[in-house]
Amino acid sequence: DYGEEEFIGKEISRIREMCGPKGRVIGAVSGGVDSTVAAKLMHEAIGDRFHAIMVDNGVLRLNEAQQVNDMLNKDLGVNLIVVDASELFLSRLDGIEDPEQKRKIIGNTFINVFEAEATKIEEAAEKEEENGAEAKGKIEWLLQGFHRLTRTLYPDVIESISFKGPSATIKTHHNVGGLLKDMKLKLIEPLRELFKDEVRALGRLLSIPVHLVQRHPFPGPGLAIRILGAVTREQVKILQQADNIYIEEIRKAGLYNQISQAFAVLLPVKAVGVMGDKRTYEQVIALRAVTSEDFMTADWYVFPPEVLRRISSRITNEVNGINRITYDISSKPPATVEWL
Ligand code: XMP
Repeated sequence: DYGEEEFIGKEISRIREMCGPKGRVIGAVSGGVDSTVAAKLMHEAIGDRFHAIMVDNGVLRLNEAQQVNDMLNKDLGVNLIVVDASELFLSRLDGIEDPEQKRKIIGNTFINVFEAEATKIEEAAEKEEENGAEAKGKIEWLLQGFHRLTRTLYPDVIESISFKGPSATIKTHHNVGGLLKDMKLKLIEPLRELFKDEVRALGRLLSIPVHLVQRHPFPGPGLAIRILGAVTREQVKILQQADNIYIEEIRKAGLYNQISQAFAVLLPVKAVGVMGDKRTYEQVIALRAVTSEDFMTADWYVFPPEVLRRISSRITNEVNGINRITYDISSKPPATVEWL
């Protein structure tokens, strides 16, 4: 019943009270709106006693890890560690084509990497203490930065760690979860009852850059569910480049905020084309853009033809390995937003 400014003030006091004078918090950030707003709120409340961890899973968008690092660390002052685990993720994804298996592997690997990093943070604090520094508080809390009303990043992780309290086991995976369970982390969920629009309003008040506050959602399994067939470094690179051009042109045309979600998909088929006096035989990119209220249903977006023309010409000219572009005109249902 109160405004965003009041919400921020109350949340900050509540977080400070919950954490006490020394308690520390860890949380995963993705660079999306929700986790960034949650991280900034934690930072305002307890400063560097909040540790943000970003896992680079090798299937992020072009230069994304770097951009998130710049924004959170440099611009917003959040105490952030970016872990480059792309080798590990890509090696575990090697040869995997089934979408649900990709999701599982990415979710589980995420837990492994996140836990290892949390352990390192605790160990570093213990070492500092051995060397005479003042004792730091234990990490007692896990930030769940995602609000509830859309599908969240790594749904397995969230559901299994969070809503059942600290004694819950990680249901999808038996050999992980030790740390979160052993550490008996309690959950902090500042955004849990907010709607997306409210999270965005908080973001603006917390001085989070506008382009980020308005950003389209991006799935936890990332480009792995936008590469049909096996995920390889080469495929990731092709898709990153195509997707980057697509989004760049949408922004240039001033259409980004009219679209709920736009992205490129890499198809595992080859088609014939011609370049100069040579025949080419290369892969196909599908472009997807939808409008949607809640992502339960969605309509395909009607682009001005000249925008599609420019996007197509740029991708085929600039991205090696692509000679053909298609536009996805399926609504949800019966299609889904993602292709996998
Ligand atoms: P679908 O494809 O189910 O997508 O129509 C609806 C919304 O959910 C996102 N999505 C995911 N988000 N992990 C996520 O964090 C996932 O595994 C996942 N699959 C789909 C999708 O991007 C869209 O916004």
